[in-house]
Amino acid sequence: MSTKWVVEDKENKNVFWPSDEMKKRAWLSDESFYEEGKADPVKFWEKRAEEALEWHKKWQTGYEQDKDKPWKFKWFLGGEINASYNALDRHVKAGNGGKEALVWVPEPTDEKPKTYTYKQLYDEVNRLAGAMKKLGVKKGDKVSIYLPMIPEVVVSMLATARLGAVHSVCFSAFSGESLRDRVEDAESKVIITADGYYRRGKPLDLKKNADIGASAPSVEHVIVVKRTGLDVAWDEKKDIWYHELLRDADDYCEPEFVESNETLFLLYTSGTTGKPKGIVHDTGGYLTQAYWTTKLDFDLHDDDLFWCTADVGWVTGHTYGCYGPLLNGVKVLMFEGAPDYPDAGRWWKTIEEQKVTVFYTAPTAIRMFIKFGDQWPKKYDLSSLRILGTVGEPIDEEAWLWYFNTIGGGCCPVIDTWWQTETGGTLINSLPGVGPFIPTVAGRMFPGTKHILLDEAGNEVEEGQSGYLAQVPPFAPGMLRGVYKNEKKFVETYWSRFPGYYDTSDGAVRREFDTIRVTGRVDDTMKVAGHRLSTAELENAINEHPLVRESAIVPKPHDIKGEVPIAFVMLKDPSKASDGLKKEIVKHVDSMIGPTARPHEIYFVDDVPKTRSGKIMRRILRSLVKNDPDMGNLSTLMNPECVDELKKAVGFKEG
Ligand code: WTA
Repeated sequence: MSTKWVVEDKENKNVFWPSDEMKKRAWLSDESFYEEGKADPVKFWEKRAEEALEWHKKWQTGYEQDKDKPWKFKWFLGGEINASYNALDRHVKAGNGGKEALVWVPEPTDEKPKTYTYKQLYDEVNRLAGAMKKLGVKKGDKVSIYLPMIPEVVVSMLATARLGAVHSVCFSAFSGESLRDRVEDAESKVIITADGYYRRGKPLDLKKNADIGASAPSVEHVIVVKRTGLDVAWDEKKDIWYHELLRDADDYCEPEFVESNETLFLLYTSGTTGKPKGIVHDTGGYLTQAYWTTKLDFDLHDDDLFWCTADVGWVTGHTYGCYGPLLNGVKVLMFEGAPDYPDAGRWWKTIEEQKVTVFYTAPTAIRMFIKFGDQWPKKYDLSSLRILGTVGEPIDEEAWLWYFNTIGGGCCPVIDTWWQTETGGTLINSLPGVGPFIPTVAGRMFPGTKHILLDEAGNEVEEGQSGYLAQVPPFAPGMLRGVYKNEKKFVETYWSRFPGYYDTSDGAVRREFDTIRVTGRVDDTMKVAGHRLSTAELENAINEHPLVRESAIVPKPHDIKGEVPIAFVMLKDPSKASDGLKKEIVKHVDSMIGPTARPHEIYFVDDVPKTRSGKIMRRILRSLVKNDPDMGNLSTLMNPECVDELKKAVGFKEG
């Protein structure tokens, strides 16, 4: 039987608070950490770093920041630490080697899930690290990891970290060219990849893409995991099978302790323009934030099974699919396949079978499952769930409530975590034992961190007003330390608009109970007749219309108003599209936000362009509505085929 963790606010305003039972269990159920963090953030994090991690050598200075160049900041100076030691050795030494660390659920249903204990993971990481060392990988070298969702991806990250080398994971659904861009920029010595993986029941060749990446001049070795047994191209000079490498490897490889501020990993992320930038993350600060945010956001205890559905190719997969849970000694679930294969019940079946207690996914997935229908989750027993999380984009009220009620049975708090690749770990969300949980409102600032909301001129806005979300020093320990080999871009992108602060590029609104509602990227914000309008806010309003599944808003230049919002609307039942419905939606927006937010034009469409992580590519929609033939690179889209349909819808004129 499930336990009621949250109770609805008596005033029935959709503001949820933790139940007494939840508070009793939770690591944090009062203001103590918040107050401690406010009083002295550096001391707060020093204490947390000491509690969370085992340091080979204690740091001398907690935090240091350059007076004139605020982006030059460091945490735990002089401290020495190793990430894989903290994720594995520590638990094994404490006698917890027999505890399960990872359960992997393969896509083919006739293949059984595979479990690794902490000791088994430790053994494999040691062997791979030792073997890579023999291949010449040493401290500071870059290792590109191009692997699907198989346990070897976690092993590879930890083995790289064990050597004090730097991993750069490239999402396995990215093309070979994308991999090569990243490998070239990082000058990786080694690529770890696989012969292939399963997607919708079919084995796909990954090696042929990896070979494109391996053509970069820096690459000396390509380590290949055998996943599918596909017959793949082989380069005798470079390629080595992972299993052969491990078979001949030593059982133990000494961890290389590094100074806290040395780089643990690079992760490439798309900016608004140009090629992806390599976000640089340090070791000690990142691990501290990873440990504490995982532990407190999801109130993780020893008996939890944590499933973060994000691919490890994204920052969410790094921090909450690998480092965070393992540092906490908790068991984590990894799923190989497509969420709706062989049917739309696969995720819910997995939760039932594995007894997942904490589930962390993205609004885009939630909306997809809403579309599939309630019959799928209803078929399964989801009562093991205790906490639900969401990340990646603003969540609209409908999706929040569906997640809360249909998946959580009205019993699990929805932890809406705001953060970025750049921040390394979550920074704004309510905590399970503290609350509040309010649909569309991310929540409170994580203890020991501070964000403010600024207007164009850099002044703080008043409560209830929207503004630019900026971080106040001392910057959170998990924050990026640079854009790899590109300080100019680093400074321009994050540190120029509001001197002294970190510019998140997000807009937000301060709300009641000390909470923040993040409305979305400011690059997607519009000024309509002088009024600032958030695309997220408008989309949220449109999505609340009962016939609407999802929508995307982009600005279109307008003679008088500057810009007007254009709406691409996807209906639950496309046959309901009509002029009458357009009018109804406009009326609905009028009543939800006001006439200033009225969409100038509504297009009913089946799909809009999305990145492989499910984010709407508004850049392409913006080009479409402007009839601008320069749509940029379409190759990273999940669904490039929808662009032609959209061209027809908007009456795009070629040439
Ligand atoms: C958006 C993902 C609202 C935001 C971890 C941010 C969110 C960008 C939320 C970073 C949330 C992420 N509510 N917006 N809970 N979480 N975002 O680098 O615009 O893939 O700047 O990191 O996603 O995306 P990234």
